[in-house]
Parts: sequence; C-alpha cells; structure tokens
Amino acid sequence: MKIAVTSASGQLGAAIVKALIQEIGKENVVAIARTASKAEHLGVEVRKGDYNSREDFNAALKGIDKVLLVSGMDDPRKRIPQHRNVIEAAKQNGVQKIVYTSIVGDAENTAFSPVVQSNRQTEEDVRNSGLDFVIGRNGIYIEPDLEYIDTYVKEGGIINCAADGKCSYTSREELGYAYAQMLLNDSLNGETLNLVGKPITQSQLAEAINQVFGTELSFTSISVEEYKKERQAALGDFIGTVIAGIYEGIRSGANDVPSDFEKAAGRAHKSPLEMIERYQNHNQE
Ligand SMILES: NC(=O)c1ccc[n+]([C@@H]2O[C@H](COP(=O)([O-])OP(=O)(O)OC[C@H]3O[C@@H](n4cnc5c(N)ncnc54)[C@H](OP(=O)(O)O)[C@@H]3O)[C@@H](O)[C@H]2O)c1
Repeated sequence: MKIAVTSASGQLGAAIVKALIQEIGKENVVAIARTASKAEHLGVEVRKGDYNSREDFNAALKGIDKVLLVSGMDDPRKRIPQHRNVIEAAKQNGVQKIVYTSIVGDAENTAFSPVVQSNRQTEEDVRNSGLDFVIGRNGIYIEPDLEYIDTYVKEGGIINCAADGKCSYTSREELGYAYAQMLLNDSLNGETLNLVGKPITQSQLAEAINQVFGTELSFTSISVEEYKKERQAALGDFIGTVIAGIYEGIRSGANDVPSDFEKAAGRAHKSPLEMIERYQNHNQE
C-alpha cells in the first residue's frame, strides 16, 4: 500500500507524513512537494507536484493507492482548478481513495467566506470524483497564536474582533494524527468530519496561554471594521482582510461547531492547555 501526501514540505503535510510513517513505515509513504528538496528531511520517497501542473500529478500519483490532498494557499478562485489537477490525475492513475483537508467556517457572510467557498467547491469535486473519499474540515490552528505571544505581550494583550465568540482550536499535530487514521480506516469513507477541539473564547485562550507561559495577557474586543483596518495596515489588503474575516467568523459562532475528531482519529482531541504545553515543550527541545 502506497500513500502519498501533497504539499508535504508544508507544516500540515509534514505532520501527516510523520503520523503515517508511525502507522505504515517509511517505505509506504510518498511525499509530494512543489519544491522537492524542501521535503527530503522527511526521509521518504519525494516526488514533484505543483498544484498548477496536471502533468506533475499524472507522474507523481503513479502506483499510489491513496492520496491526501492538502488545501492550497493561492487566491481562492485559483485553488479550485489547482485541486482539480490532483483529483483528475488521481482518477487517471487508478488511485483508490482521496482524503481532502477542508476548513470549518461560514461560506457566506465574512471576509473569509471566499476561502471557505472554494474549499466547499473542492469538497464537491472530491465527492463527485467517483473515488473513495473522506473529507476533514480543519479548525483554526492554535500555533499561530502561540508564535505571536511576544507580540501580544508588547501590544498589552490579545486584541481582535471575536467578542465572546468561541473557537474550536486544533493543532497541526492533532490533524496529522487524525488524517493518518482517516487514510487508513476505510469505514470512514464517504464522511465529512469536523476536526476540531474544545471551543473556547479569546479570554479563555489568554488564560490558557498565561497558565503555561506565565504571561499576563487579557483579551480586548474591538469592532470588525476597526480590526480589519488595523490588520490591512499591518499585513496588506489580502491577508489582512482574510485574518479579520476569520475573527469575524469566530464572533458570529462559525467556528463553534460540534467535533467529529474522536470518530476520525479513534481518540479524544487534546485540550487547549495540552496543545499549548506540547508547543512549549517542542520549542524547548
Ligand atoms: N486551519 C488553519 O488555521 C489554517 C491556517 C493557515 C492555512 N491553512 C490551510 O492549511 C494548508 C496547510 O497549512 P500549512 O500549515 O501546512 O501551511 P504552510 O506550512 O505554509 O505550507 C504551505 C504548503 O503549501 C505548498 N504550496 C503552495 N503553493 C503550492 C502549489 N502551487 N503547489 C503545491 N504546493 C504548494 C507550499 O509549498 P512550498 O514549500 O514549495 O512553498 C507548502 O508546502 C494551507 O495551504 C491552507 O490552505 C489553514
């Protein structure tokens, strides 16, 4: 059985490859990456795969039984045909099963909705592919908030527009584990599963960070418009708008969804505190 993972040079792809190696061994895992040299550290066979190139994937998916498609990073409209290159190449090569990393979120009402919509379209494409499939809808990663702690301290706390909205954070490590199981466990075929942990408010996130890192962060909520302007000034129009849209979604409850993690992974999701502690331990190694 050969299982391939796309975007394996990225952090989510690498976490999935590592979890798969634990389950089926290095010889059965293939890392596909746009820049092959960036995936060599994983210690498995590496093949080239740029989402813009159908030819790359026609070659990369030869002899592959199952493929994990990591959602791309491009403009949302460009992602749809890019993902189709992988789906069509999988069909052409007789790949048996495809697992796709989609996202939780509101497809209609926020500045993040175009990204959610493009993920929903790929979900449809996967469902209509005729291949066996499982779709995961990822929660928001907790790691970017933890990478940002020094900035939060400098800015006097966590400031965004989430108000009292709850967000079911996950981590790339938790997702890596779940996706490995979803690839291997064929009783999940046909399912669309929310891969999220326990929902918490931004105040609860600040408290959990304080507990582990000894900081004294608190949370201040500002309006969606004010936050969008501030993020656009800091990060540019595209990324600033997307980030503001994510917190707008949290404010409206779009990220407070029931979790299917245990069904997908066969074990409970780690708590926010456990994820933060694991992040701190990794960074101290
Ligand atoms: N749930 C969340 O909170 C959240 C947050 C951010 C992103 N996301 C989504 O999750 C995905 C994975 O996240 P991550 O943490 O792994 O991001 P990451 O570490 O930044 O990795 C992104 C990966 O995408 C690859 N890539 C970009 N353009 C590509 C193309 N045209 N063809 C093939 N590969 C391409 C990059 O390849 P190179 O190494 O060659 O650049 C890299 O491997 C993202 O793509 C995004 O859709 C989710």
